[in-house]
Amino acid sequence: MAPEVFDAMQPFLTEFYGNPSSMHTFGGQIHRKIEEARSSVAKLLGADPEEIIFTSCGSESDNTAIMSAVESAPGKRHIITTRVEHPAVRNFCKHLGRKGYRITFLPVNHQGQLNIDDFVKALDEDTALVTIMYANNEVGNIFPIEEIGEILRERRILFHTDAVQVMGKIPVNLDKLPVDMLSLSGHKLHAPKGIGSLYVRKGTRFHPYLIGGHQERGRRAGTENVASIIGLGKACELAIKNLDKEIKYLSMLRDKLEVKLLELCPDSRINGDVSRRLPNTTNLSFEYVEGEAILLRLNEFGICASSGSACSSGSLEPSHVLRAMGIPFTAIHGSIRFSLSRYNTEEEIEKVIEIVPGIIKELRLLSPFGRDNLGQKIACP
Ligand SMILES: Cc1ncc(COP(=O)(O)O)c(C=O)c1O
Repeated sequence: MAPEVFDAMQPFLTEFYGNPSSMHTFGGQIHRKIEEARSSVAKLLGADPEEIIFTSCGSESDNTAIMSAVESAPGKRHIITTRVEHPAVRNFCKHLGRKGYRITFLPVNHQGQLNIDDFVKALDEDTALVTIMYANNEVGNIFPIEEIGEILRERRILFHTDAVQVMGKIPVNLDKLPVDMLSLSGHKLHAPKGIGSLYVRKGTRFHPYLIGGHQERGRRAGTENVASIIGLGKACELAIKNLDKEIKYLSMLRDKLEVKLLELCPDSRINGDVSRRLPNTTNLSFEYVEGEAILLRLNEFGICASSGSACSSGSLEPSHVLRAMGIPFTAIHGSIRFSLSRYNTEEEIEKVIEIVPGIIKELRLLSPFGRDNLGQKIACP
């Protein structure tokens, strides 16, 4: 969390703990603060404050958008998405698939990019919604959201995009972007975990997912998570202020990390579309080693990364994203993702560059598929 965010939130956990729905001044003053935060989120998106709904997280925003779209078009039973979505979209679509909806999971190419002709061919009279992520959380690829949105607008088909990875990393202007609904999540832009937002364009038919009280103008029931909403507003203000500077800084750090690691570790590669991706994410594969083993060794040095093979997140399935991209088995298993933020330093990057090659070498010596750093096979089962 950004320290400025924490400072902004603190009074709302102590002094100003009234309920914004109350009639008295104690609650009313909080209501005003929530509206200020809503304006800050809207400003970051190039949206109108009325188009912003606060939710509990990115997953809730995604589920709400998809459910709202299918409820708004009861006669339509087809949803289009991609094979590389976050589980918040992918598993919700699979869930609807089990309930009788027809789901098209669009394939991606080796770089993780979509083929627009495939996408257009998948559209039909029965399509209620297209939900395609703005940028991928594992490899950082950015999808052509504007092009997709224009095609859908012409055909009057609802378009939702999961922009959880994007906010504060690249500019987004919904005033120009043909998107009907967009999800974001606080903890990706230095707000707390457990706060999110859903943008719903004015005029879009909307059905609430959480039904109950009249909060969020009847669009999302539940007493507001006031402090986190204030935190999200502050985080959006910071993102607006820092965006240009951060894009340059993060790409510089990422490029330095990639260039050096590829140079120092043979049989390594970047996964994703290097011509169109977020500045802060890099997904690297080191052949013949296990991503989890790399993570555990990195952890001993205080370096936190995540693995593409998802074992660390409780599943033995290798990454669905890298599989959809057709990355070879040995490279999928040795993939790790580094994601950077404004709080990472050049010294930290240098430390990673110093440590990773030794770890890869050491693990390859243990691997039955291993090669030494000259590419010679070192062991065979
Ligand atoms: C692309 C994407 N969508 C959705 C989510 C889910 O967000 P949350 O954890 O706030 O529910 C994430 C979280 O990492 C994500 O990266």
